[in-house]
Amino acid sequence: MCGIFGYIGKRTDSAKIVFDGLKSLEYRGYDSWGVAVLSKSSLKIFTKKAAGKIGNNNVNALPDGNIAIGHTRWATHGGVTDTNSHPHSDCSGNISIIHNGIFENYEDYKKKLVQKGHKFISETDTEVISHLVEDFSKKLTFSDSVKKTFNLMTGLNAIIAVKLIEDRIVAIRNGSPLVVGFGQDENFLASDASALLPFTKDVYFLEDDEMVILERGKVRVSNVKTGKIVRFKKQKLNWNVDQGEMGKYSSFMLKEINEQPKILREIAMSAGKNVEKISKIIKKSRGSYLVGCGSASYAAMAGTYLFSKIAGRHINFAIGSEFGYHLDFLNKDSLVIPISQSGETIDILESMKKAKERGAGIVSLVNVLGSSLYRMSDEKILIGAGPEKSVASTKALTGMIAHLVLLSFSLDGGVKKGKKALLEAANSIKKILSGKDSKNIKKLADIICDSKNIYVIGRGLSYPTALETAMKIKEISYIHAEGLAAGELKHGPLALVTKGTPCIAFLPNDETYGANLAGAMEMKARGGFVIGISFKSHEVFDYYIQVKDVGIATMIPNIVVGQLLAYFLTIKKGLDVDKPRNLAKSVTVK
Ligand code: G6P
Repeated sequence: MCGIFGYIGKRTDSAKIVFDGLKSLEYRGYDSWGVAVLSKSSLKIFTKKAAGKIGNNNVNALPDGNIAIGHTRWATHGGVTDTNSHPHSDCSGNISIIHNGIFENYEDYKKKLVQKGHKFISETDTEVISHLVEDFSKKLTFSDSVKKTFNLMTGLNAIIAVKLIEDRIVAIRNGSPLVVGFGQDENFLASDASALLPFTKDVYFLEDDEMVILERGKVRVSNVKTGKIVRFKKQKLNWNVDQGEMGKYSSFMLKEINEQPKILREIAMSAGKNVEKISKIIKKSRGSYLVGCGSASYAAMAGTYLFSKIAGRHINFAIGSEFGYHLDFLNKDSLVIPISQSGETIDILESMKKAKERGAGIVSLVNVLGSSLYRMSDEKILIGAGPEKSVASTKALTGMIAHLVLLSFSLDGGVKKGKKALLEAANSIKKILSGKDSKNIKKLADIICDSKNIYVIGRGLSYPTALETAMKIKEISYIHAEGLAAGELKHGPLALVTKGTPCIAFLPNDETYGANLAGAMEMKARGGFVIGISFKSHEVFDYYIQVKDVGIATMIPNIVVGQLLAYFLTIKKGLDVDKPRNLAKSVTVK
């Protein structure tokens, strides 16, 4: 949460570089934004910051300078106001700070600083950092002041600091991500590697407690706890710059939905030795867990069905934020498979640390190379979905499920069958996206867009499909939607179905068909407007969306139908599909 971008180098339009970098990080938080530039000629730091999304704003009024830092905010301490936006200054205005995370013990220091005469203008924890650095700078060097401040802070944080006259950017992280980008006579910092792609592919992912001092032609990394210099190794990013851009599409979500057939084909075609290696590790383990948050948790839940149905193998499932409370029995024979697009979701990282402490092996299914999860895992499978920018996950989720399909078939000794299933799913999605099916889903959105509640049911693999569809609908269209195991309807939720309530039922051609149909009928009998998503029509349906039967992989095209419905509902309501209110893509606070 919160996007950070920093530049130091030969170019003088640093404010614009940082501003453009922020645009590509805005999915991390879009309550407010801000840029600060150091002007050598005026001997002053100039700042522009404002509440709200970046939108059509610009930084044209900021002066030239070779050093700039910027931030997009997802508010924690202090409301969404211009003043609470980052960067924050000290009393002198010579220091500028941006921050991602929560400075948990900031109040203790704020009181002391106020007693010393420091003047605060915002309600943020971040402003305390600026004044602490100012205070320590009276006796210490700039970088030592930043280090000392950081070492006082409890919580998971990343900070970037600049000071007038100092030709450097100082940054430190613990928990919140920071990536250094290396250029020619210029260097960069960002909270996500994809933001660096227009500038460089050579990066270094800072580890916890590492401080970087960025100069125009030099990068030094040290550990803030031990003080030791870190000999770091650069990594090469394997994404292309156009993968992170919107191209011909009107939103990232639409682009990412449309990329799915290609990604599934690539996942199917590239399945090889790694899947077999990982399935051997799974087979050897005694007690294994799939863990994820948000959409990734539905992938994890789907994994339990896939492992069971395809490979006859039991695997547990937990939501990232809950996993920490029931991992007491993990030991060195246990295996945990965390699933995450960003690889930075704090609930995943925290519980993986606990799992590691208990000796469990970690095999991650992760989309971002070099992310914190990627680095802390013993083994990894890269999802291969490319950069995902829309807050609501689409292609990363179907990519996760695709890998779980492959793993399940590989556990059963037949990865080829998995590839075939994925290729069929890719073709089915292509059909849904390209023709009358998509129009049919749009028409449905027009019919139900004014509904207050939508219920979505499924059994077996269609249960996580129903949960995911409901999540997509609520998070971007703001219509209350509830996903249910169809069998649970009569244990309570059916009381809410009245005349005209939209009830979506997933009815693939599997063992759940008959029981799911019964659920649809129960809703119909209470006046529900039944929307059947199935391989064949049925008289109980008031609205029908056809999805070809592609066996066990049918859940993937079914999910795509849910994505499109959520998308069309949101567009119809005139809302921002990529940046839903109150949310952010990479959830790095608890
Ligand atoms: C956020 C996103 C979701 C995503 C979840 C988990 O809430 O909005 O789309 O599923 O985080 O993210 P991860 O990066 O761990 O997959």
